[in-house]
Amino acid sequence: MDQLNKLRGYLPVSTLERKDLLPIVSIAAAASIFFASRRFFSSGQNNKRECKKIPIPGSRYPYVGHMWSLGEVPGRTIRKWHNELGPIINLKMGIRNWFMVDDPVLAQKIFVTNGAKTSFRAHHVFSYDHYSMGGMGLAFSQPDERWKVSRSAGMYQLRKSTLTVLAPKHIEKYIWTIQQEAKDLVTRLILSTESEGSVEPSQFLKLFALNVIFKIVCGKRFDSPTHPDYIQFQKIVEHNIKNGAWERDLSNFVPIFSYSHHISIIAADLILAGSDTVSASLAWDIAVMCHHPDIQKKFAAEIDTFIKINGYLPDVKEKEKLPYCMSVIKEGLRFRATVPLGLAHTTREDIYVDNYMIPKNSSIISSMESMHMRQELYPDPENFKPERFMGNTKPMQSAANGRLEGRDHFNFGWGRRICPGIALAEAQLFVVLVEIFSRCYVEPTTNGLPDIDSAVHGGLTARPVNYKVKFVQRIDFST
Ligand code: HEM
Repeated sequence: MDQLNKLRGYLPVSTLERKDLLPIVSIAAAASIFFASRRFFSSGQNNKRECKKIPIPGSRYPYVGHMWSLGEVPGRTIRKWHNELGPIINLKMGIRNWFMVDDPVLAQKIFVTNGAKTSFRAHHVFSYDHYSMGGMGLAFSQPDERWKVSRSAGMYQLRKSTLTVLAPKHIEKYIWTIQQEAKDLVTRLILSTESEGSVEPSQFLKLFALNVIFKIVCGKRFDSPTHPDYIQFQKIVEHNIKNGAWERDLSNFVPIFSYSHHISIIAADLILAGSDTVSASLAWDIAVMCHHPDIQKKFAAEIDTFIKINGYLPDVKEKEKLPYCMSVIKEGLRFRATVPLGLAHTTREDIYVDNYMIPKNSSIISSMESMHMRQELYPDPENFKPERFMGNTKPMQSAANGRLEGRDHFNFGWGRRICPGIALAEAQLFVVLVEIFSRCYVEPTTNGLPDIDSAVHGGLTARPVNYKVKFVQRIDFST
């Protein structure tokens, strides 16, 4: 009624008496309230019309849509499209809709604030029907009760003993394994350099990462990349990745794969998600560091200072005492995103975020490469500058699971589906790089520097094109 009186007060009353105006004003007010409320109550139905249009990049073909337009390095093409069209774009991938997001604030709203609606995994014939046998395990299962139990710290009863594999407080149990594997790795890299003149580190990095996770999950390791067991294991993995139901063969190999479908697929998830990602990240780090002898020197100097003060090689627990080394690790993850398109989430209902409408059954993907190259977040993004991360020594695990303001990179994904292996990944990257630069420097061969501009896409990860470098023992080590 107050509103009505105010409205009446504004009207000019020189020619008409106030009493004559009353019905007119009342009708006008009622009409405006009626239209306003109609808009309000019907906004659910009209949202599609009123929402901001999500741009679709131009270069697409009939039927296949953008599938053939993504190019050799999809992350880079998607970055170009984001630069042209904004923080959210809609790709047509055959009959599927992909919504790519490269703004962390928008991604946080989609994947975290709306996490209850956007934490599903898309149905993918291979990963869902074959690999995870209808959504069992962790990575491709739907966020149901079984998945929740699987992700909770107490779930990893992979062996008869309670084995909490990935919870950060339990990582310490595996530090010795990681350190031993890292020592082995670096010795191999140095010896191969000495005997062959240079080394292609990728095969050794893969062995390192597989050994760490395989030891944790199955209690086994492989002695060398040429060991018949390792070759057999790789064949089984490759064969079963192509044909599905891989635990049938693996159960002959390690007993854990005969426990139950669900447990064996969790084990398989951990081995796949935990080995390729870590070895690819290390492959990038070594290639990039080879381009930057000055950064290698600073990295080594920080380790030397720690050793001078403490008398031993820094332990993962003490990583915040080596802020420069931690910053190099983060800058490595930012500079060349190992999982450039994250892992697609999906929603089973239309969702509305920032006046955008994402229709149900679409894939929603965090454009990792583009996000980590945003000029306003990472000034001079094309250059490898570890200093940009010096201000934040929080463990990556807690930063990633905390508030958005505390996150300085987003490589491990979002919300309920965020990577559960962050602490293990951080520990491995730290131990290996500290082991390398406490013992040697990485130098180019006479054929030149590693190519860090191209990338090889192997499923979910992107790794550098194979390269050779030299691991030359340090002579400037000063303790
Ligand atoms: C540098 C190393 C790594 C990177 C960059 C990485 C990145 C990611 C990303 C982007 C996701 C998807 C998150 C989302 O859906 O929003 C993910 C999921 C996952 N990661 Fe990692 N990861 C790494 C290492 C590891 C390790 C060491 C393990 C375990 C041994 C692991 C296990 C998993 C699992 C099981 C999932 C699926 C989780 C779920 O769907 O609920 N990852 N990771």
